[in-house]
Parts: sequence; C-alpha cells; structure tokens
Amino acid sequence: MKQRVFSGVQPSGHLHIGNYLGAIKNFVKLQHDYECIFCVVDLHAITVYQDPAELKAKILEIAALFLAAGIDPKIASLIVQSDVAAHAELAWMLTCVTPIGWLQRMTQFKAKAAQWRDKIDTEQDDQLASVGDGLLQYPVLMAADILLYQAHIVPVGDDQAQHLELTRDIAQRFNSLYGDTFVVPATKLPSVGARVMGLDDPAKKMSKSAQSANSYVGLLDPPATAKKKIMRAVTDTQPAVDFDNLGPGVQNLLGIFQAFSEWPDDRMRNHFHGKRYGDLKKEVAEMVLSHLEPFQERYRQITADPSYVAGVLRSGAERVSPIANDTVRTVKQRMGLYTE
Ligand code: TRP
Repeated sequence: MKQRVFSGVQPSGHLHIGNYLGAIKNFVKLQHDYECIFCVVDLHAITVYQDPAELKAKILEIAALFLAAGIDPKIASLIVQSDVAAHAELAWMLTCVTPIGWLQRMTQFKAKAAQWRDKIDTEQDDQLASVGDGLLQYPVLMAADILLYQAHIVPVGDDQAQHLELTRDIAQRFNSLYGDTFVVPATKLPSVGARVMGLDDPAKKMSKSAQSANSYVGLLDPPATAKKKIMRAVTDTQPAVDFDNLGPGVQNLLGIFQAFSEWPDDRMRNHFHGKRYGDLKKEVAEMVLSHLEPFQERYRQITADPSYVAGVLRSGAERVSPIANDTVRTVKQRMGLYTE
C-alpha cells in the first residue's frame, strides 16, 4: 500500500513563486508515488480575523492554483478543511490531551500573538482587542489534520518543524493514554524544493505575508508586474556574476532561474559567470514568465467554470471522509465517548 502524505496551505496572502518552487512543485511529483491529501486550511486562517468575502474567494483561488500547478484530482485528494467536519471534531479531542504549556512554548504562537497585539495597539480596534484562543490551539488543529488520516509524511517548510514535532508528541501521548491509535508521522522532512528568498531582502524567505509586494512574484501577478519586480531585485555592489563570490541576492536570482529551468550546476556556471546583473535579471524574468504565462492560462481555464473547482472539492471530501470518520470513531471508542 502506498504511504499517505498530507499537507495544508492557508488561504491567506498571495501564493508566489517561492511557494511554487519550495512546495507545490514537489507536491505535483509526490502525487504519483504516495496517496496524497492536500488541504486548504480555512479553519487555521480564521485564527486571526479574515474578511468573510475575501476568505471565501481565497479558498477557491488556492484550490484552482493547485490544479493549475498540476495537482491531478483523479489521483490526489484536494479538500477544504471546514468541509470535512472531522477535522474540528478530532481537534477538540486532542485539545483535551495536550498540556497548555506545550502550546504556550510554540515560537509561532508567541510571534503571532505579539504581532496581533501590536496591530491592536496601532488600530485601537476594541472589537478585536485580544488574542483569540484559536491562535493558541492552532497547532492542535494541525495535529488533528495530520493524525485524522494517519499520514506518514508531512511535507512542510522548516518554519513548521516545531508544529510537526508537537503533532508527534500529541500522537504519542494519546497512544500511551488510550492505546495505539495514531500513526506517528515521520520527523524527517523530505527534502523539498528550492528555498526562495525575498527579492527586496534576500536575508528573509520569500513570504506571502511580507509587508512589501516587491518581496515576491505572485503566481497571479500580471507578467509585466512580475518582470518589474525581478528587475528591481536587490543584488550587491559587484558589477557581474562571480560564482566564486556570490552575494545572497544574486544567489537567490540564480536559484530561481535554476529551479524553473532545472539546468545542472555546470551549465548555470558556464552560462552566467561574468554576466552583468542587468542581463542576469532579464534572463531570470524571461525564464519565470515562460512558466508563469502558461500557468496563468491554465488558471483562467480552470476558473472559467466555477462549478468545476467546487466539484473537485466535493469529490475530494467524499473520498477522504470515510478515512476521517473511521479515525474519529476509533478515537471516540478509545476515549469512552458515546458511539452506537
Ligand atoms: N500550519 C501550516 C502552515 O502555515 C499549514 C497547515 C495546517 C498544515 N495544517 C497542516 C501543513 C497540516 C501540513 C500539515 O504552513
């Protein structure tokens, strides 16, 4: 039997070439060798306030972007988290076996809570004037996503490594309290694709929540905008590419080119060594656009019929629900909750 892979993506911000090269491109390959479930985690998104109309549109946008990138709904399941009620159900049961200290220690919780407090201070918005409990529970819901499907492998970036470790701790604690129930997912993150850095600040990972839109090339950026952002990317004070002394900005541009082109190292070196930065950027922009334009064409075709994406999501939910419901039923039985 094929091992199961689960991964989630939040419907917030704009998906960009860093998400594509670092994760989605890899998912497209994984779907052939594993039983894959890809989930738009809308319940995670609402741990901080989301405009309802925007959230709804974003969920469909992310699903359509995955399809445009090559996720094949015949072989992989594409689902929306809130569409499969078992995610929230299992999250509650796992909350009850999770010590609060484990959650308060999470670095992402501490960072997001601080960010939210700053926002409240500056905006003086009384209605939102506290950090929601959902932010603390966030990792338990993520554990539920993974454990619900007894996933073996969870391809995520390093920023999610602590959450994955917590998922293992929760699974082990449940298993020792109530008997073997959950597959404990592997810690070793499969080596994922390229790590793409911000165009305006190559010290930071390209981020969809970055303050400046110049930091990333969005998958849906108009080609002219994408080109402009690449032409403005930060390099360094040298005039030309020197492979023996690459600054982080130049390295990042070369990395983007190589990830799209899949050229081997020696070809990269032969082609780019000694090139002036202006010419490098032009070539990077051309390479990116040669992938972005057909990608956006597929996206337009997919979204031209709104019932298509809805149908994919419905059949995804139908396919995974029996697995999810089975797990919830077993958990209920183990815990002594009521089942018929
Ligand atoms: N927390 C993840 C992120 O922000 C998203 C996510 C939610 C996830 N549930 C998941 C990733 C389950 C992997 C598996 O990137």
